[in-house]
Amino acid sequence: MISLVIPTYNESGNIGLLIKRVDGVLKESGHPYEVIIVDDNSPDRTWKVAQALCGEYPDLRVIRRVNERGLARAVVRGWEEARGHILAVMDGDLQHPPETLTLLIKALERDGADISVASRNVKGGGVSRWNVFRRIMSWSATLMATWVLPGTLRTIRDPMSGYFALRRSVIQGCRLKPEGYKILLEVLGRGRYRRVDEIPYTFVEREQGGSKLGPRQYGEFMVHLLRLSWETGELKRFLKFSLVGVSGIFVNMGMLTFLTWNGLGYLPSGVFAVETAIVTNFLFNEFWSFSDFSKRSPGLFNRMKRFVGFNLFCTGGAGINLGVLWFLTGYVGIHYLISNLFGISMATLWNYGMNANITWESARAERK
Ligand code: GDD
Ligand code: MN
Repeated sequence: MISLVIPTYNESGNIGLLIKRVDGVLKESGHPYEVIIVDDNSPDRTWKVAQALCGEYPDLRVIRRVNERGLARAVVRGWEEARGHILAVMDGDLQHPPETLTLLIKALERDGADISVASRNVKGGGVSRWNVFRRIMSWSATLMATWVLPGTLRTIRDPMSGYFALRRSVIQGCRLKPEGYKILLEVLGRGRYRRVDEIPYTFVEREQGGSKLGPRQYGEFMVHLLRLSWETGELKRFLKFSLVGVSGIFVNMGMLTFLTWNGLGYLPSGVFAVETAIVTNFLFNEFWSFSDFSKRSPGLFNRMKRFVGFNLFCTGGAGINLGVLWFLTGYVGIHYLISNLFGISMATLWNYGMNANITWESARAERK
């Protein structure tokens, strides 16, 4: 059985057409199904409009949450009441084309995926008429999430998607407690799964009503990311990496001080200082921050490959480091040791994102 959950808040103008189209698609799938609308007591009485449809659609159920608000938790509530072996979620505003659901189900049933995600960021997918600002917002949210949760999200191109399906077993026994909008992050962060498939779709413009995404939801997104990265252990890895970075600061600053004392100019000294720190940092990361992966990918050749990758990204980081040093000292006139500290901080952000996601790519948390 397929259980499709549709969270709604002020969607009275969309719900009629949506249910009609969804019902048609699900009927054709040949599976028994149920559609569960979870409405947070919408002022426009979406719940009432939906309830009125139950006579015409016997497989439709409506849950009205009176004291709670929030997209992601509404979805969790719907899944709690669901009976299907396949759980799915779709927006209630027709921005997610219902026909894609057929492909999401097929990916689970026929292709053996555990989770199938409708994706804007794989070939064939996209958004319609989005301005630069919206694209940047969406892109930076994805980047930020991937940076904080490299092990969870590395291979997923559209972790911000709110349209996906999964086997019930993926979240069986997991306590989902998402904050805000992004229910997929929660499923990927806490679920048990092997294979995630992405199915292209085009995010359609809204005809009726408006988005409920606002400043509050951005705040909740940050809290959610932090919480997930802590509870999945990924934040711990970043803290280790940062500690290694701190050790690198001492190596770097010590070397810089030593060389400038011996009469070398601060820029060439800076180059040597950075190079030395890259080597010591690699060793600490290889045998400590990322030791779990290093163990899974042993051998001198793999290690050398990682060392080359680490060097390349850290050279980029060193570029950032030196650029900041040059700018702050040459243009702003700040003391070069202080400038160097700023440079190192910027480089650390870059280095972690790149190395966690690429050099030690299997930083992916083991999923029991
Ligand atoms: N029950 C409930 N409670 N539903 C809500 C709430 C809430 O507090 N807030 C929003 N919804 C419902 C909306 O009524 C709509 O059906 C759906 O959740 C998506 O909300 P929108 O406000 O339309 O979101 P969006 O268009 O900006 O973004 C959507 O698309 C993204 C891209 O796929 C969301 O689904 C994102 O999660 C998704 O990533
Ligand atoms: Mn929408």
